[in-house]
Amino acid sequence: MASYPEKARIVEVGPRDGLQNEKNAASVETRIAFIDMLSDAGLQSIEAGAFVSPKWVPQMAETDKVLAGIDKKPGVSYPVLVPNEKGMEAAIAAGATEIAVFAAASESFSKKNINCAIAESLERFKPVMESAKAHGIKVRGYVSCVLGCPYEGEIAPDAVARVAKELYDMGCYEISLGDTIGTGTPVKMRALLKAVTGAGVPLQALAVHCHDTYGQALANILTALEEGVAVIDSATGGLGGCPYAKGASGNVATEDVLYMLNGMGIETGVDLDKLAAAGRYITQAVQRPLVSKVGQVLQGRQG
Ligand code: HMG
Ligand code: MG
Repeated sequence: MASYPEKARIVEVGPRDGLQNEKNAASVETRIAFIDMLSDAGLQSIEAGAFVSPKWVPQMAETDKVLAGIDKKPGVSYPVLVPNEKGMEAAIAAGATEIAVFAAASESFSKKNINCAIAESLERFKPVMESAKAHGIKVRGYVSCVLGCPYEGEIAPDAVARVAKELYDMGCYEISLGDTIGTGTPVKMRALLKAVTGAGVPLQALAVHCHDTYGQALANILTALEEGVAVIDSATGGLGGCPYAKGASGNVATEDVLYMLNGMGIETGVDLDKLAAAGRYITQAVQRPLVSKVGQVLQGRQG
């Protein structure tokens, strides 16, 4: 019999990973209202935006206004994505208390996403990490393309493990393993987790970040739970994707993850009805279909 963690933490990435890829950019007011609905639903980690170049990702412009406008609930963390020192300065000025840095396990993806090689991106993070330390800011690290790359195809688990370990050694308290294009399957997820923990990143410091492009996300998350991972990234409404990963249809929907965790008796502290209402709100606001299966059922019940 597989054993599962008693509790899991959901890291809600809808307001960042979700909205960054929506054709209709959400207004600052909508982003604020969405985040407040998510914290009201009980989510404790809500990625609120990104201090990246607005020329590259216009949907994340004015993240400073979003951070200033949300009703910051005690005990809730609102990380923001930071690609370099310029982003870090903006994050500090906006009063961020947690940031996320991101590196890829694939050279081609790194080049397309942040216009530099993997080693160079890790170099760029060093001053960001120092500044975070000096300001008491927590840092989460993402590794992208952990189970496949849109340009290179298969990615070796050892390549992921190397980048994950570097980010961990640099001071990231948690490493989120991103299946950016959702091509992963359970056996590969298990092998990946073994490689990453084998390289010295503790299981307690790992999160999984699954996109649902091929409908494999819940199966991959279940596998990660069996391996002892207790932190799961997801986006309410199944929003998003990645602008530099063609075909990355969206993050796994938080409603669907929560339904599964509830059914397994794994505690999260999140209210499904409130979450589903947030999913309806944001998908209507950006005029995209609600792809969450659980969200669709609950929408039907609303009449
Ligand atoms: P670049 O063009 O190589 O950088 O971009 P640059 O230093 O030459 O700067 C170009 C311009 O951008 C300059 O402005 C800079 O001032 C400005 P200009 O002089 O042309 O007017 N700039 C900035 N502006 C605002 N904030 C900043 C910033 N930095 C420079 N921080 C850069 C390099 C990294 C900036 C760019 O490539 C970029 O912003 N990329 C964004 C990539 C991104 O957000 N991707 C999506 C997130 S990753 C993801 O979704 C995957 C994940 O979910 C995990 C998974 O699914 O696997 C995390
Ligand atoms: Mg992502």
